[in-house]
Amino acid sequence: MSKALEIKIGKLKLQNPVMSASGTFGCGEEINNFFDINKLGAIITKTITMEKRQGNPSARVVETASGMINSIGLEGPGIRNFLKGKKDFLKKLKTHVIVSISATSVEDFKIMTELLDEQSYIKAIELNLSCPNVSHGKTLSKYKLIAQDPKATEKIIKIAKKYTKKTLIAKLSPNVTDITEIAKAAENAGADAISAINTLTAMAVNVEKRRPVLGNIFGGLSGPAIKPVALKMVYDISKKVKVPIIAIGGIISAEDALEFILCGASAVQVGTATFVDPFTGENIVNDLEKYCEEKKIENISSLIGALVV
Ligand SMILES: Cc1cc2nc3c(=O)[nH]c(=O)nc-3n(C[C@H](O)[C@H](O)[C@H](O)COP(=O)(O)O)c2cc1C
Repeated sequence: MSKALEIKIGKLKLQNPVMSASGTFGCGEEINNFFDINKLGAIITKTITMEKRQGNPSARVVETASGMINSIGLEGPGIRNFLKGKKDFLKKLKTHVIVSISATSVEDFKIMTELLDEQSYIKAIELNLSCPNVSHGKTLSKYKLIAQDPKATEKIIKIAKKYTKKTLIAKLSPNVTDITEIAKAAENAGADAISAINTLTAMAVNVEKRRPVLGNIFGGLSGPAIKPVALKMVYDISKKVKVPIIAIGGIISAEDALEFILCGASAVQVGTATFVDPFTGENIVNDLEKYCEEKKIENISSLIGALVV
């Protein structure tokens, strides 16, 4: 692979700026059997919580115009079972492993960060402060989510920072009045990078049954439908913070990735597109490489924020 796609996020040097988005990619043997995960710049695991979680009642996903709504609700085995079950596989990977975590107490954030810090094969932690399908609880945030409250965002990042030297990424919510205020709080607290955006709160209705489609009534909208919203948020954040931004939201092609990079992103994550074509991430890497070759771009980082307005 050429060096044209190499980028830096915090302490991490990535072979390319394309990552899998949390919750949309298996991160296990099952996917590695037909897809070479090591082609990606990094993989981000499904968000892990302290204890096992069942998630929300079904139905938990529904297709919508140019996207989907999910209300999975952070189903997962809990951090200790996750580490036991996935360690052997994740350790073998050559690409960077980033683990996503969420919690409903300061204590759990602290314990989980410490546990991950002990694992040398885990290169960074993404703090999911923004899942619309859970509540972080009133003790942590003034609102439903940590990423809706700048003070709570700052507090949790400072705690995590205290317990790990690994690169810390704060994943933000679009469900706010001003995402740049939260991004600034994250940067001030020591976040090494910002991921934006998580899903937008949404719902779908079944007219025949006169009922919501999702068991949880509400969910989070993702896919191409949210790309223009995400682009604007990434652009706005890039004007307010210096740390790298990892863009997420409806990315299905190298052109989408380049749009985000021009708007100030250093890297991108691919989520919903993976459900349509599991090879999307790899295709984007190949197409970005071709683009740099054709345009004689020595390193893709020269395009970060290069939008002419
Ligand atoms: C089925 C599904 C599950 C998701 N689970 C998580 C999760 O566990 N943690 C998280 O931070 N984001 C989660 N997300 C949000 C994605 O990581 C991403 O931020 C969002 O879908 C927007 O990107 P996209 O339009 O490329 O999908 C999930 C999204 C989907 C569609």
